[in-house]
Amino acid sequence: MLKLISLVLWVAAATTFVSAYTIVVPRDQDQEFPGGPGLWPEPDRYNTYPDVNWNRTYEAFEPQQIHLSLADDSKYARIEFATLSPAEQSSFKYWPKKHDKSVEIVQPETWEFEDGGEAHRTISLYRAKTRKLRAATVYQYQVGAFDNDKSKWSWSSVYEFHTGSKRKEFSFIAIGDIGLNNAVTLPQLIELSKTHKYDFLTLSGDQAYDMKDFDGTKGDQYMNLMQEVWARVPYLGVPGNHEGAYNYTHYKNRFKNVPFEDSGFDNPLMYSVNYKSLHLVSFSTEVYFDGTDDMIQTAINWLDADLTEANKHRKQRPWIILITHHPVYCSAPNTEDCTTKAALLRDGKVNNVTGEHWGGLEPILLKHKVDLYLTGHVHNYERTLPVAKGKVAGNGVLHNPASYVEVIIGNAGPPEPTVLFNMTGPFHDWSAVRYDSYGYSTVNVSPSKLDFTHHQVHQDGSLGTIADTFSLTKN
Ligand SMILES: *[C@@H]1O[C@H](CO)[C@@H](O)[C@H](O)[C@H]1NC(C)=O
Ligand SMILES: *[C@@H]1O[C@H](CO)[C@@H](O)[C@H](O)[C@H]1NC(C)=O
Ligand SMILES: *[C@@H]1O[C@H](CO)[C@@H](O)[C@H](O)[C@H]1NC(C)=O
Ligand SMILES: *[C@@H]1O[C@H](CO)[C@@H](O)[C@H](O)[C@H]1NC(C)=O
Ligand SMILES: [Fe+2]
Repeated sequence: MLKLISLVLWVAAATTFVSAYTIVVPRDQDQEFPGGPGLWPEPDRYNTYPDVNWNRTYEAFEPQQIHLSLADDSKYARIEFATLSPAEQSSFKYWPKKHDKSVEIVQPETWEFEDGGEAHRTISLYRAKTRKLRAATVYQYQVGAFDNDKSKWSWSSVYEFHTGSKRKEFSFIAIGDIGLNNAVTLPQLIELSKTHKYDFLTLSGDQAYDMKDFDGTKGDQYMNLMQEVWARVPYLGVPGNHEGAYNYTHYKNRFKNVPFEDSGFDNPLMYSVNYKSLHLVSFSTEVYFDGTDDMIQTAINWLDADLTEANKHRKQRPWIILITHHPVYCSAPNTEDCTTKAALLRDGKVNNVTGEHWGGLEPILLKHKVDLYLTGHVHNYERTLPVAKGKVAGNGVLHNPASYVEVIIGNAGPPEPTVLFNMTGPFHDWSAVRYDSYGYSTVNVSPSKLDFTHHQVHQDGSLGTIADTFSLTKN
């Protein structure tokens, strides 16, 4: 545990427009946390936060692991949940909070999900899409499954979510890298999710550590932990390397409610969604590290087509954000993530015969003028200036920026210490801000301005100061 938390601001290499700095949170010692990959979870101060009840015994037909996602500007929501045994009947009912007589009932589709481990453990999953929702409305809902043993319905508690307001402006929450243990930001996220101020939550990969553990029971526990957040605020996340087991089947099944069908991809690993002035793309960078060349080509072709279409509507939706798990630039010391892996992702693979690069992400980001590349994996916070081809673009100006800005937010709470930056540097010119402890981000978007704020969360789960804030503006 940290005995002392203090912020040391270190002002270095100021460019003309922005001063670069590192926020170092000193540590007494290397920290080890329980509940990492392959380890049993243990109660800690975050996963025992009030109302978080992931470790109780669930009845066979009792709905659990409830989470929302959204489609098409929040005109629709999609729910997904699980039961331990397959129910013959299930139901999703929802109603506007102020008109509780107008209940809509949707029958979910259901399937069995078999974990890839030796026990071949199965759970039952259910997914349902609402009919067209009213804007600016708080809805309440319950999911239920028919209990064959007791011949009665088993209903979840009532949760509520909201649809987008009629105003152009909106806010969302952005996090990355969070475990069943050491989920430092979770208490903050639960409180934020109850405020109706945030329209969705993005998650830049690596969850649970790992969902596959103990025949997938850790996945169930993690989904129940996070239920207190995403039963209220729709999930729009992306897979990370910790979701890779059994060809991402935990991820593909447990997050089958993301809008991948609406965006022409054949599984939940990639999708995009339009939301007011934003086109948000969820792109799995993991294919570069564990996929075949064909799979990389399929992914990049899909992304190119998706962004080509998005650019036809750029006046209506000026902002494009890509959420991914792996960074294309980073400054963490002593790791191939920031050298060979970042280069592979950014520049692509090299063709043996011609010696040319192919499939790199950066040419696509530049071609389609992506605004923000929001990523994780490295367990700290780092923000770049507008960057292209390894150099600061357009003097780092954030008004009508010359290139995209990358933000790494791999620090929501992994069961591993966060990654410390080298105090002395030197750092690349493009590295604007570095912060080496925990936090979550909030993003406020209007057609001409995107305000990004990274909030420090102390090791004890309490809210700290603002670690970084910046605005991108357009006209
Ligand atoms: C979960 O519950 C089981 C059974 O009650 C108990 O043995 C175990 O210690 C609990 N684990 C945690 C992390 O709370
Ligand atoms: C893994 O899943 C992808 C789709 O995400 C599929 O194209 C590929 O064939 C699968 N690989 C194996 C070995 O099943
Ligand atoms: C590249 O070279 C390696 C080693 O010679 C070979 O195994 C591989 O098939 C080649 N790949 C392509 C795409 O030509
Ligand atoms: C920090 O970087 C400097 C310069 O590259 C290097 O000499 C030093 O060993 C690094 N320190 C740590 C703790 O990695
Ligand atoms: Fe990762």
